[in-house]
Amino acid sequence: MALFTVQNLSLAYEGRHVIDNLSFTVAQGDYLCIVGENGSGKSTLLRGLLGMISPTAGRILRGDGLGRQDMGYLPQQTKQQRDFPASVEEVVRTGCLNRTGLLPSPDTRTKVEENLRRLGIADLRRRPYAHLSGGQQQRVLLARALCAAQKLLLLDEPTASLDPAAASEFYRLIDDLHREGLTVIMVTHDIPPAMEYATHILHLGTKSHWFGTADAYGKAGSGFTGGEHHA
Ligand SMILES: Nc1ncnc2c1ncn2[C@@H]1O[C@H](COP(=O)(O)OP(=O)(O)OP(=O)(O)O)[C@@H](O)[C@H]1O
Ligand SMILES: [Mg+2]
Repeated sequence: MALFTVQNLSLAYEGRHVIDNLSFTVAQGDYLCIVGENGSGKSTLLRGLLGMISPTAGRILRGDGLGRQDMGYLPQQTKQQRDFPASVEEVVRTGCLNRTGLLPSPDTRTKVEENLRRLGIADLRRRPYAHLSGGQQQRVLLARALCAAQKLLLLDEPTASLDPAAASEFYRLIDDLHREGLTVIMVTHDIPPAMEYATHILHLGTKSHWFGTADAYGKAGSGFTGGEHHA
């Protein structure tokens, strides 16, 4: 059974449909990139997968014992979030809250430490999050998501504010995590890295959607605009 089986899904805000009749699956070990133009519903879909909003039609089935506590989420960043008033270590520690509750356990401390080191931000731990560069902030948020992720990482445009070198490094980091066995779902506007690293592509269009392997997308679908009809 797949981690997610999405069948004829529709998602809406106050009765206004954002996503219609969408079907795809995500199996353990997949690396799915979600692409599509601004406003096509990519962030909304991630919120649906996380159970933050409910389908208006169709369904999202979770399999392989996947629970909400197994998913790490790096939301799309806004200006307000960049000014979040907490230290680096405090931000990373909030990633463990859904597993351990409010009291820090030895397990939490180990997890926080492990991820601060892994992302090369251990020496920034006492710095105010708001004082970091965009690239450093994304590393902090990835460390936070990794504290939560046991099986699955959901990333919403994680390289949007990064310069090309930092973005490449970030993609390599995600690739390493994927090779270590984490399932990855990433929203991005960067098609070349999506094609290089992803196993599958979901392209959200205005009239229809395209889902398949990255190879098939490269051969047939990368010109897909969503205005035409695909099966
Ligand atoms: N909380 C909300 N309430 C009402 N409408 C919303 C809400 N969030 C998003 N929308 C609308 O839903 C549509 C899809 O938004 P969404 O943020 O999912 O798009 P997106 O594909 O992530 O775009 P982008 O590439 O700009 O991040 C847009 O028309 C947006 O205005
Ligand atoms: Mg978005």
